[in-house]
Amino acid sequence: MSKVDITMFPNDFAWGAATAAYQIEGGWNVDGRGPSIWDTFCHATGRVFEDQTGDEACNSYQLWEEDLKCIQELGLSHYRFSMSWSRILPDGTTNHINSKAVAFYNKVDNLLVCGVTPMITLCHMDLPQALQDHGGWCWEEIADIFEQYASFCFKTFGDRVKLWITLNEPYVCAKLGYEDGIFAPGIKDPGRSVYLVGHNMLRAHTKAWHVYHTYFRPLQGGKVSLALNSDWAEPLDASCSDDVLATERYMEFTLGWFACPVFGTGDYPKSMRNRIAAKSLEMGHSQESRLPRFSSEEPSPLGTADFFALNYYTSRKVKHLRAISENEKLCFVGDQGAEGVIDSSWPICGVHWLAVVPVGLRKLLKYIKMGPVQVEDTNRAQFYQDTLQEVGKAIVQDGVNVKGYFAWSLLDNFEWSDGFSVRFGLFHVDFSSTQLKRRIYCSGRDYAAVIAKHRSLT
Ligand code: NOJ
Repeated sequence: MSKVDITMFPNDFAWGAATAAYQIEGGWNVDGRGPSIWDTFCHATGRVFEDQTGDEACNSYQLWEEDLKCIQELGLSHYRFSMSWSRILPDGTTNHINSKAVAFYNKVDNLLVCGVTPMITLCHMDLPQALQDHGGWCWEEIADIFEQYASFCFKTFGDRVKLWITLNEPYVCAKLGYEDGIFAPGIKDPGRSVYLVGHNMLRAHTKAWHVYHTYFRPLQGGKVSLALNSDWAEPLDASCSDDVLATERYMEFTLGWFACPVFGTGDYPKSMRNRIAAKSLEMGHSQESRLPRFSSEEPSPLGTADFFALNYYTSRKVKHLRAISENEKLCFVGDQGAEGVIDSSWPICGVHWLAVVPVGLRKLLKYIKMGPVQVEDTNRAQFYQDTLQEVGKAIVQDGVNVKGYFAWSLLDNFEWSDGFSVRFGLFHVDFSSTQLKRRIYCSGRDYAAVIAKHRSLT
């Protein structure tokens, strides 16, 4: 019997499962489908494990009814799947529309008949190859072309589909596809591609969101977002301020890269702006940073999401980029100067990078809710909660006349013979910078919430 306490979930909670076109459909060259970058990538040798391809995959193009049975057997309320851009528009543009693909995706009606709400991703990694031939996500015009594709899908399916994801995991597409070269289109560029790709993906998403809100939402009433992926990260050594700062950068260079422009400030995180500009100079990119600027001639990405869609798998312990010990696995290095490593106590599930850290999802959700301003110090937050609870009991159950409680300390500070190596603050102080910047810890947030609640009742 499952140990999940279902009473914790609201009545309208979406119970879903997700897939993506290239990963399940197969039928790669039937009924007029054009090739995508993943067809090209997989058909080249030495790219994918044992040169395997998605040519047939789960053959969902033919066996979609079997998938529907699975969905029903699970009793899902929602099903997220992606449309193959190059099945619908074989050369990526609306110059040629493949009616057989439209007929195929019209089978979405069967989900509705079964009472399952569809959520559609417009592009889940599989950019049409014809567009890659122009530079793919590095190509400036890609944003307008994506907007046209998105408009076509909203117009054609939006009477029935109310939940849309424009792009899946732009971080992965940009980093693995255009910097590391281990995902399609297999470009290994240590230079500017990766940030240009991320930028154009944000521009494309922004345009699609605006077109939906201007022309389709008034009639169709749906919602549009983009799916961001992120690990949860914690400092390898919470008492080392270098590691604490590296952890913040790790989050900012993954989640913040896309979340800040859309949900935060309308621009990339400051740490990205500063470090990439400095590194770009070092790399000889003249005065110009490899991180593009949002143009004032185009709509801002800020506010272009009707909900937050998060893909979470795992967590990392992060250390400032310096030496790494031999038994730790190097997972991520780069402009941010931070390394994410797997804690040896975490079990691994199925694939080498997937350390099982379920609590990381909760922490990540809370981090997203609060904004990336707080510093993690979960144990201390728990310490205060438990301590205040005991103080409360002393008052109520033991009749002690306790007049108040003063937390030590407001700020991290000089701890006598331990110097600055020990931290007690409700606010983190960055002793490595001359500004001595203060940032609230989780414990600070928590304490503030307790105070606010109590004061609202008195
Ligand atoms: C999420 C991606 O969206 C999906 O395509 C991928 O297969 C899984 N992560 C596992 O890596």
